[in-house]
Amino acid sequence: MPSVSALFLLGLGLAGAVPSAMKRQTTGEYTMGFIGCSMSENVAQGYVANGGKHMWGPYGTGGLVVQSWTSTNSASWALFDKQAAKYGKPVEVWVQICIFQNPGATYDEVKQLIANARQHATPEAKIWITGQPIYPDNPSSCFLAGPQGPTLTTDLAKKAGADAALNVTYPGDFKLMKGEVQDGCHANTAGQRSLGKQALAIWG
Ligand SMILES: *[C@@H]1O[C@H](CO)[C@@H](O)[C@H](O)[C@H]1NC(C)=O
Repeated sequence: MPSVSALFLLGLGLAGAVPSAMKRQTTGEYTMGFIGCSMSENVAQGYVANGGKHMWGPYGTGGLVVQSWTSTNSASWALFDKQAAKYGKPVEVWVQICIFQNPGATYDEVKQLIANARQHATPEAKIWITGQPIYPDNPSSCFLAGPQGPTLTTDLAKKAGADAALNVTYPGDFKLMKGEVQDGCHANTAGQRSLGKQALAIWG
């Protein structure tokens, strides 16, 4: 059994910018996939620009809201599988809940996305879940998702993270501040950089 001091040193070794409990397990390059929409692409663009190599780069997910991912045989999942063929099935998947104002999304649909993610990843893959980015200084900013849209998606992500039966991790919300948004919803270059840094802080 390791001594208390050895455990303490291990703890120090893991300490970083984010709480160690939230840190990813060490895994290789491009072993983390993601599903989502143009907002996830904004994250992936900034992540790549900041030197991130653990998660996939952008792969054309613009417009792919929740309902694009509820059928496991959809064109969206075919895109995902193409990435998986290139890099190997991912051992981690970030599920981003993206919506249009109509129809929004239900918790059942979110659960379906999680089930599908498991099916398209390695067995025992770690699943992360978030909503769309929130806009702390202009909460109703994103016209595509509707005034309550970003909050609806983050509430769904929190609920999933708290649901032990789903075994998924909610690491917190992505944030876009005034000056980082180009059209009310999407990140400008500064916003992409910021989202990329937020992703690096969680996933390395
Ligand atoms: C929960 O997910 C982890 C990966 O995050 C996996 O290692 C573990 O086996 C899963 N547990 C259950 C009960 O499925």
